[in-house]
Amino acid sequence: MGNSQAGKTLFVAGGSSGINLGIARRFALEGANVALISRSPEKIAAAAAEISALNGGRAIGVAADVRDYDAVEAALKQTHDRFGDIDTVLSGAAGNFVAPALGMSANGFKTVVDIDLIGTFNVLRASYAFLRKPGASLISITAGQATRASMFQAHVCAAKAGINMLTQCLALEWGPAGVRVNAISPGPIGDTEGMARLAPTPEAEARIKARVPMRRYGTKDEIADMALFLSSDGAAYVNGAIIPVDGGSGCGDGGGDALGGLGD
Ligand code: NAP
Ligand code: COA
Repeated sequence: MGNSQAGKTLFVAGGSSGINLGIARRFALEGANVALISRSPEKIAAAAAEISALNGGRAIGVAADVRDYDAVEAALKQTHDRFGDIDTVLSGAAGNFVAPALGMSANGFKTVVDIDLIGTFNVLRASYAFLRKPGASLISITAGQATRASMFQAHVCAAKAGINMLTQCLALEWGPAGVRVNAISPGPIGDTEGMARLAPTPEAEARIKARVPMRRYGTKDEIADMALFLSSDGAAYVNGAIIPVDGGSGCGDGGGDALGGLGD
């Protein structure tokens, strides 16, 4: 495709599937070395094999749980030993299920906060020693739930809100070293586990699309475009930004309900 990432290295947490794997594919096609981690040894090996076929064998997959700081640090060290300084870190591991707060145990709430928020701290904190400085781009994956309360998503809303603030705190602390820290906030993205869980029926899917101003799901490639931009020289002064790629979903109610559908 291109060579905008030639000689550069991408590390992806939660890289065995979905949006994060889509970003890894795109970086590989642009020439990047790629390291992926996720919990499942089988899934991460398959993902690494797929990426290796795209970038001439310069991909590794390591089974590591983002809740385990030492395992994350070891995977980052392995990446650094193989490819040298890391240019882009994507923290996208996440868990979600749909449940009312009263239908969620304390451990259910904690599990999602541990994966999403504590996991993002672990990945970004542990990566610092292995980054290209100056020049590295760190990207968290957040979601609209961070700023918009949602029924049956108390755990995700709380965790993603924490990710937004963590992203901006690290942007303040690490900006002076030339390390930029930003977040992408995807809207509903097609062909993902996230939307399979949030909109499991065609009716639910249609309801969600009707509220997106663009009237469709986004694609993994559209998220990868933003990740590539954030890792380019064009984004050299973009730091601490929470960037929606959501077809305008975050602007408000795009369904035009109050006006009887005049928005359609
Ligand atoms: P996905 O395919 O399920 O991706 C989640 C990834 O995280 C998987 O590779 C999973 O692999 C890994 N993972 C889960 N728990 C982990 C842990 N404890 N340690 C390490 N890796 C772990 O879901 P997706 O829908 O593409 O979502 C990707 C990201 O986009 C998430 O941050 C999500 O919140 C965000 N997002 C998605 C949407 C959407 O429309 N789908 C919208 C807004 C934001 P293993 O099972 O092998 O661990
Ligand atoms: N409703 C209520 N509670 C639930 C639940 C549901 N649908 N699913 C899991 N939980 C609770 C469990 O009961 C458990 O609590 P308990 O010990 O008090 O019973 C707690 O959550 C942890 O469950 P467990 O299955 O042990 O967690 P895990 O670490 O193996 O898996 C999840 C994490 C639950 C988030 C799992 O859905 C997952 O692996 N998700 C990754 C993929 C994903 O969610 N992709 C979309 C990303 S947006």
